[in-house]
Amino acid sequence: MNGGVESAQDDAKCPRHVAIIMDGNGRWASRRRLPRFTGHKAGVETVKEVVRTCGEKGIEVLTLFAFSSENWRRPQEEVGLLMGLFMTALDQQVRKLHEHNIRLRIIGDRSAFSRTLQERIEAAESLTENNSGLSLVIAANYGGRWDVIQATRTIASRVLAGELTPDEITPELLQSLLSLSDLPEPDLFIRTGGEKRVSNFLLWHLAYTELYFTDTLWPDFDRQAFEGALASFATRQRRFGRTGDQVATAQSI
Ligand code: IPE
Ligand code: IPE
Ligand code: MG
Repeated sequence: MNGGVESAQDDAKCPRHVAIIMDGNGRWASRRRLPRFTGHKAGVETVKEVVRTCGEKGIEVLTLFAFSSENWRRPQEEVGLLMGLFMTALDQQVRKLHEHNIRLRIIGDRSAFSRTLQERIEAAESLTENNSGLSLVIAANYGGRWDVIQATRTIASRVLAGELTPDEITPELLQSLLSLSDLPEPDLFIRTGGEKRVSNFLLWHLAYTELYFTDTLWPDFDRQAFEGALASFATRQRRFGRTGDQVATAQSI
């Protein structure tokens, strides 16, 4: 078979956007009788490897859930350490990300972060905003419900100002006001750490995303494990409401 055709088919089976709940850091550390924070630090190494792999495979967007809007409920000490780790990782990695043509973006309610962290985030985003390689999105103090609510507030104020009628509120309009509105929808969702739930991640965006759950804890989620998730994605038939026959016919044209 013609190599060009083959690679076009392979491309079709590679997700454009992968979204990951990086779970299991604490358990990874506890099993080694280490403090939970050691697991979070080990998790940063996994992030680096997954980012590298995405770059190599030409994946366009990688969205990582780093801190949920509910994670403030954790002991104050862990929250403080996580914020510190986020800041350090930003400081140490931004230049490298930029060198690799990666565009960094942070989604979530950043108003809760310290002024310094907010400034570092803004600096990192503006340094990398014109890069054309992988878009790396970090969800920090993010919640899917928060995202829908902030979009809804904008809609409500436009209606109040008389700029919009209720009939003009469509899925496309709401989508355009959510985080990630300018990026393709997630094709593949991965959750490590064994739990089978969405934990208030991308609620709207996951409508037709393929879901992949693994017991592997995030610090152990190596290249081979990531490739296993990508291989599982490649076997899925995405029907978007149509029948399997309709999809197969459209693909063979
Ligand atoms: C995920 O790992 C990282 C964050 C939520 C910040 P956890 O810290 O939730 O690890 P487990 O689930 O307790 O093992
Ligand atoms: C989800 O993990 C959030 C992140 C990975 C950042 P959690 O560990 O907070 O989720 P729950 O509490 O088990 O649902
Ligand atoms: Mg967890």
